[in-house]
Amino acid sequence: MTEKKIIITLDGWSSCGKSTLAKALARELGYVFVDSGAMYRAITLYFLNNSIDLSDLKQIEKALANIELTFVFNPTRGASDIILNCQNVESSIRDMAVASRVSEVAAIPLVRQFAVQQQQRLGKNKGIVMDGRDIGTVVFPDAELKIFMTASKEIRVKRRFQELVQKDAAITIEEVRENLEQRDHMDSNRKESPLRQANDARVLDNTDLTEQQQFELALGWAKEVIAQPL
Ligand code: DC
Repeated sequence: MTEKKIIITLDGWSSCGKSTLAKALARELGYVFVDSGAMYRAITLYFLNNSIDLSDLKQIEKALANIELTFVFNPTRGASDIILNCQNVESSIRDMAVASRVSEVAAIPLVRQFAVQQQQRLGKNKGIVMDGRDIGTVVFPDAELKIFMTASKEIRVKRRFQELVQKDAAITIEEVRENLEQRDHMDSNRKESPLRQANDARVLDNTDLTEQQQFELALGWAKEVIAQPL
């Protein structure tokens, strides 16, 4: 008998380590991993590069019609890189220039409709782990396993700083904290699909957990759900 395939959603605050956990779970289960934040970041990069006026819906609509997003597996990272119109933008979407505008772009309903449609298509055959902010509430409300991740703000600031300082030695911890606070605020207060915990989500607070501990906890949940009869 072939094993039941499920959809696993991971939502939560910025820099909680959602992608790290999602990637590890997908690898272990042989599932596809999709970083939905990368899609919003790539759209933001396109808007910045093409000087799109975020208050002009016509411009936004036209721009979205010219955006093609795909993923290609990168064996070095053990995860998929995002491709924006044939260009691998996995590295540039992590820059501060994108980080400081992405919440604004992700709050635009047209942008969300565009991204959600593609995300739902990617989950059509199940066997997927997707991380983001609204995956368990809006994209896959019927997902079999929903995880809501959280961690203390200080630990999240520290983790993001360590990641960004490798690319930009001049960055300060204050800049990172400010950006994170601003994104937390915008992501949880926007009108369209704000970050919130799904009623049926399991909470994973990883403030005091190692990567291995959080992985084992989440994998245990996944195995338990997969073993349940259809
Ligand atoms: O997970 P991340 O930091 O790469 O996400 C980048 C931004 O995209 C974040 O500020 C919130 C937004 N986002 C969203 O609104 N919905 C998602 N499903 C994923 C990300």
